[in-house]
Amino acid sequence: MTKSKPKQYIYIVQASLEPAKCKIAKTNDLERRLKEYNNMTGKSKDNIYRYLFACEVKNMTQLENAIKAKFSILREEKSKEIYFYNSALFKNYVKFIKSHKTFVKELFIQTEDKKQLVKIIKKTAPSLEERGLSQKELLQKAQKKDNDEFYTRYEDVEKELSMYNKSIWQNKSVFCNCDDAVDDDERNTSAFSLYFIQNFNKLGLKKLICTHYSGVVDLFNQGAKGYIFTKDGFREFKEYPKGYTGSFDHPLSLKILNEETDIVCTNPPFSRAIDYWKITIESGKKFLIISNITNPITPAFIPYFKDNKVWAGFNEVDWFLTPKREFTRAAGYWFTNIPVKNRPKYKQLKIVPLKDIPEKYKKYDDSKNLVVDNGYIPSDYKKPFAVSTRPILNGLLEKGYKIVQDTQYFPYINGKKCFGRVLVQKI
Ligand SMILES: C[S@@+](CC[C@H](N)C(=O)[O-])C[C@H]1O[C@@H](n2cnc3c(N)ncnc32)[C@H](O)[C@@H]1O
Repeated sequence: MTKSKPKQYIYIVQASLEPAKCKIAKTNDLERRLKEYNNMTGKSKDNIYRYLFACEVKNMTQLENAIKAKFSILREEKSKEIYFYNSALFKNYVKFIKSHKTFVKELFIQTEDKKQLVKIIKKTAPSLEERGLSQKELLQKAQKKDNDEFYTRYEDVEKELSMYNKSIWQNKSVFCNCDDAVDDDERNTSAFSLYFIQNFNKLGLKKLICTHYSGVVDLFNQGAKGYIFTKDGFREFKEYPKGYTGSFDHPLSLKILNEETDIVCTNPPFSRAIDYWKITIESGKKFLIISNITNPITPAFIPYFKDNKVWAGFNEVDWFLTPKREFTRAAGYWFTNIPVKNRPKYKQLKIVPLKDIPEKYKKYDDSKNLVVDNGYIPSDYKKPFAVSTRPILNGLLEKGYKIVQDTQYFPYINGKKCFGRVLVQKI
């Protein structure tokens, strides 16, 4: 009698003490393989391996190689069988395996009770002294936290980044430097990190560096951490300097920014926006960040727009998630120094002769300066005039107009102070 050919399987297995990792591999005997994992010498008894997914396939070596190639950046640099795990990535692994031509049938897939896994969070709680903070500063920081602790939604990152030509990312190193955590729980992974991990190959990236900030409020509850992803796999930072918080202005973060980064991409804390913009713009690196929609008319930022060091991206960002994952509104906008081609919002600029601007949208203030509203821009007016943030966001400075004053301009009409604007002029 001819011996039947052994069956072939691909599996995803995970150890309970390592929830941010999983192993993806092949075997002819699922039962024996699991026993081997659980009997490994030197392994803690509490560290129990279990399958998250298993399936029968026609050619396990071919599929295993395809998985290795497809998810190369998600493999640990030193141990290639180990892959990064979170629920979004797990879905990707399973989808890929099931759509492969050698897939035969699914034998097992984890259900939601995976949450029983023990999660060990390394708590790095540096002392105030280590962090160079006084009690007063700590309090000020904590008071500011509310506006800072907003997560960016994945769809907002995707919507903006997909507007740029893919070639801008080709062979580039991206740094996500404001609390861009990578975690075993998809919900605790920053949308920026997840977007770049998932699109690493498609964008042709060279490297992705993500740091997680562990300040007064640890939004992602992970301690300060940093990860580097390349085509050869991923690794956590080898060493952290004493008292490292993952702050964008920590010497280690600045070193990464200056020496390893081509493009910075994140949603920095609103309360630190002035410092963040200064450091980022002075670094001379490309950036694509979310900040307050009113920055084009806010004193600290006006000079950057005036000197053409930054301009608006494509989209507004109105909705964010709180640490409790509830929706919250905030007036955010994308800002960048990457060329923006064919800006769709040009059509919101109504550049017409002054006489064609309806009276209610053109006023002269008490200093006899023209103030225009509702997207109207005079095409034949030679003197400076005041506009709100919208025309700047809609690309006015790319249409032959310039900002003429570094400071915010407050029109007074009949002695009444109106909201701040910026003075522009036709070139
Ligand atoms: C608006 S949230 C965005 C978080 C994440 N980047 C995202 O887009 O979902 C800003 C984050 O920056 C963190 N943060 C505050 N101070 C920071 C600093 N000095 N360096 C880096 N991140 C900081 C806050 O804790 C907060 O998680």
